[in-house]
Amino acid sequence: MSEGAVEKIRAIETPEGTFTIRLILDDLGSIYPGMIRYTVEVLCGAEPVATYAVNSYEVPPGSLIDTREAAEILFSRLAHDVASRPHAYTRPRRLTRPLPGSGTSDVVILQGSPRRFGNSARIASWCADEAARAGLSSRIFFLHEFSIRPCIGCYACYNYGYCPVDDDMPWIVRALESASVIVVCTPVYTGTVPAGLKAVIDRCQWLHARQKVLGREVHARGLLVAVAGRRGAAPFVCITRVVSMFMENLGIRPAAPVLIGDLDRARDVRKIEGAEDDVRAALRTLFAPGDEG
Ligand SMILES: Cc1cc2nc3c(=O)[nH]c(=O)nc-3n(C[C@H](O)[C@H](O)[C@H](O)COP(=O)(O)O)c2cc1C
Repeated sequence: MSEGAVEKIRAIETPEGTFTIRLILDDLGSIYPGMIRYTVEVLCGAEPVATYAVNSYEVPPGSLIDTREAAEILFSRLAHDVASRPHAYTRPRRLTRPLPGSGTSDVVILQGSPRRFGNSARIASWCADEAARAGLSSRIFFLHEFSIRPCIGCYACYNYGYCPVDDDMPWIVRALESASVIVVCTPVYTGTVPAGLKAVIDRCQWLHARQKVLGREVHARGLLVAVAGRRGAAPFVCITRVVSMFMENLGIRPAAPVLIGDLDRARDVRKIEGAEDDVRAALRTLFAPGDEG
């Protein structure tokens, strides 16, 4: 049940009992400037049986209808529906889908390269190995093998704490929410992360919403390990920014990234002197007991 200010309330007497419809306003300005959410709740007696919400970020600029009007329409349509078929509202309707998967891992590795046996995949296997040595469970997500659609910017996740886009993302959200260490292993593609990883990063806005709406905090430390074809620091300027914004958005505390260049020449990360040691050392520091960063 929403805890915002009740703006409007109506009791509806039916043969199935008394229903109450409430229009509630929540000021979500602490999440985004000016964000307001209206929730319309149907109660059967004292029990909430249906909840619909709309927020001001859902409405595109120039729309002929504003959020308050949309909420008012929702209110009157629900009032009409409850009065005309009350039997449909005697039991709770759930809009929120539970996240799948019970098997959670201490260390979650997001492997961003489409190449199953490429350098990022090799680095991911070093990470999993280091986790095992530290007595931790791990899971590598080969993101290219998941069906993840791009974020559609609907902002519906700030209504209910779940994303309406139906694909494999719930598995990743579930894993990230329970991990204590999150490693992003990725190549640089055109200066930044590959498209599949970018889709996952954008869709993690859902995790941000879950934190804000449901209070499900991510309590993890993070590490970026990136590989690039070219030498020097230049290829990593954008990718480090993108991945640190991703971590910052979710409250993941990042360690110093491990950046490995010159792969166009070396082809194989195992041929780059010190690369494996650097990756393993960064992980050992993250796994060290008492490292609260
Ligand atoms: C589409 C594409 C774009 C790339 N863009 C860059 C780039 O902007 N800068 C760079 O240094 N390397 C770039 N590379 C090279 C990769 O980062 C490099 O080959 C890396 O080792 C591939 O990682 P993987 O073996 O894990 O797939 C690009 C490669 C591809 C396929």
